[in-house]
Amino acid sequence: MTFRVLGVGSSLRNKASSTTALSIALNLASKYGAETRLFDLRQNKLPLYDPGENNSSLEIKKIQEDVSWADALILSTPDYHGSMSGAMKNFLDYFWAEFAGKTFGYICASHEKGLTAMDQMRTAVRQCYGWSMPYGVSLNDSEDFTDGKMNPKLESRLDMLARDLVVYGTILRQQFVKDLGDSDNAFASRYRK
Ligand SMILES: Cc1cc2nc3c(=O)[nH]c(=O)nc-3n(C[C@H](O)[C@H](O)[C@H](O)COP(=O)(O)O)c2cc1C
Repeated sequence: MTFRVLGVGSSLRNKASSTTALSIALNLASKYGAETRLFDLRQNKLPLYDPGENNSSLEIKKIQEDVSWADALILSTPDYHGSMSGAMKNFLDYFWAEFAGKTFGYICASHEKGLTAMDQMRTAVRQCYGWSMPYGVSLNDSEDFTDGKMNPKLESRLDMLARDLVVYGTILRQQFVKDLGDSDNAFASRYRK
């Protein structure tokens, strides 16, 4: 079965560096055998999450389908005040059980390495029983792109992220799916139907 990776870009800026890096990471993931999709929140704006609404817009249906389809996700954000973007937090608010047993990678465009922003995404994912890669990739738009070309060190980090997400994500996902069908005392047991 092909491993499926969904990238979620959350900068609303035209030609956002975080979304550019995400697209490259997805291309690299396909080099490692994954099928990929990009959901760019700039192109597909989600309404502010409202638990009282029936959430049936076309964009919401599309992202629900994409998240269910995915075995792993790469979340990409600009660093806003040491945090993820509001668009990313709003995307995360729509989901819970759909993240369980999936592996998440992180990208952050920042002038300060983006560690706190990536940690916040990790916290939200952990709350939903997703697995997180132990490192993320940060980039600095003014230093990592010159004349439209990407710093090779950044490309190498994105390549490692793509490779590790496919390799480790596949192992974790296969075990989770197996656990769904077994009767072991596994954390997947709460997601059995
Ligand atoms: C509202 C706002 C808050 C920001 N806060 C920070 C910050 O706390 N730390 C930082 O390093 N950069 C901060 N930035 C700069 C962006 O993170 C930076 O320009 C980033 O490269 C934008 O990513 P993008 O190209 O994907 O849109 C902020 C930018 C905006 C618009």
